[in-house]
Amino acid sequence: MEFRISDGPLQQQRSGCMVAGVYEGRKLAPAAAQLDAASDHALHRVIDRGDLEGELGATLLLHNVAQVAAERVLLVGLGKEGDLFEGRYRTALSSAIKTLRTTGAEEATLCLGDFAVKGREGPWMIEQAVLAVMDGMYRFDALKSKPAQPARALKTVIFHVADRSEAAAAEAAIHRAAAVSEGVILAKDLGNMPGNLCTPAYLADHALEVAKRHGFEVKILEQSDIEKLGMGAFLAVARGSLQPPKLIVMEYHGGPAGAQPLVLVGKGITFDAGGISIKPPLDMDEMKFDMCGAASVFGALRAAALMELPLNVVGIIPATENMPGGDATKPGDIVTTMSGQTVEILDTDSEGRLVLCDALTYAQQYKPAAVIDVATLTGEIVTALGDVATGMFSNDDALAREVLAAGEIAWDRAWQMPLWEEYQDALKSNFADFPNIGSHADCAVTAACFLARFTKDYPWVHLDIAGTAAKSGADKGATGRPVALLAQFLAARATSRSRQ
Ligand code: BES
Ligand code: ZN
Ligand code: ZN
Repeated sequence: MEFRISDGPLQQQRSGCMVAGVYEGRKLAPAAAQLDAASDHALHRVIDRGDLEGELGATLLLHNVAQVAAERVLLVGLGKEGDLFEGRYRTALSSAIKTLRTTGAEEATLCLGDFAVKGREGPWMIEQAVLAVMDGMYRFDALKSKPAQPARALKTVIFHVADRSEAAAAEAAIHRAAAVSEGVILAKDLGNMPGNLCTPAYLADHALEVAKRHGFEVKILEQSDIEKLGMGAFLAVARGSLQPPKLIVMEYHGGPAGAQPLVLVGKGITFDAGGISIKPPLDMDEMKFDMCGAASVFGALRAAALMELPLNVVGIIPATENMPGGDATKPGDIVTTMSGQTVEILDTDSEGRLVLCDALTYAQQYKPAAVIDVATLTGEIVTALGDVATGMFSNDDALAREVLAAGEIAWDRAWQMPLWEEYQDALKSNFADFPNIGSHADCAVTAACFLARFTKDYPWVHLDIAGTAAKSGADKGATGRPVALLAQFLAARATSRSRQ
């Protein structure tokens, strides 16, 4: 996809399609009104017949509008005037792209002024639009014998700005958003790959490839290395599988040598059958998405490299399957983690925390400025927050605020959950230091409490993305979240550090 900026009179824009807005009550937004005036009210005549009321996301495609140079005009419903907040802007954009995909238009010109969101500047509007276009154009059809849909026509999206003086900031926004969407696409592609192809070895090979392309340093630790490190919890998860586990470590050195790195840790369960605590069959295929945390670490590192952020970032991915093989860990088994703490594994399906705890201990050697782990960790966070917000837990208030702010800016939001001392009481074992699930009811907070026992030495955020990393049903697929949040967090850190 190509993205460009244009300005000047709307009716003179040569384009496959002008995209403009209509508010509820059949009221044309400013750009639509301008096209309407130029065309002797051709737009109004159509909507007055009742073809578009202006409800959010509804679309109406017009051809050959008199006195308008573009081949088509796409009117998009914006809902009530003055009510267009960020989420609705994304909805309006998604509908516009869905309709554009059904046309032969090769370019589309988005009349940005019609879509103005309160409190957000032009560059933000453009970044979101680039991400929405890339999201709307994304298909995962590499594994179909023939492409599911004919080749898409749309090749260029042009952002119409009111004033040429906005162009430099707009170009910069396009560049940033293109980097972020490369990261999002990488995370989606990896997430959507099925478990038989996307194995720990596949992720490791992929790390080598990404590292080569972006000049990262990369280490792949094999089973014997993981044993030497004493990662008893990670290895306990891998026992039931025929696929050897891999600990993938990628280092992006964009900052000064010696500057403390930010460490991203991603849960890389390439398939979660539950182990001996086997999962019920319904929707079990979706457990191929259990490596979406890892995929988002890949995506964030790629975005950071493309943005050339002056930071050091390390990605750590414990990758394994969680299977019920003959040598699988059994409920009641006790293992020693890399930290020396012992864990009674009461539920082998609570494997995410087991692989993460050793990866979080491994992170300590970097003396990190901060550590963020990203994991499809609990079904419970889906009950609490659905597919809207990622669950966030932290042992450091300043870092928590930074991550929440990054999510707000990127519109890839997280919501903070408590990590209070009282919740730690659930983790009691008669036989080991503590169990891997809570005594009565386990929940998203207990999982975070478990991890907190391994992250005492650095500022840490845990992101539970079980609800946000992938969609079910007709739109089944990885979303690429929270790459945008992570990329924004890294970019903001880079800016604040370079000012110091
Ligand atoms: N991978 C799952 C969590 C999950 C659930 C991700 C739904 C995406 C959608 C995790 O390993 C798991 O199985 N968690 C259990 C923990 C429970 C057994 C204490 C869960 O949440 O059901
Ligand atoms: Zn599980
Ligand atoms: Zn899992």
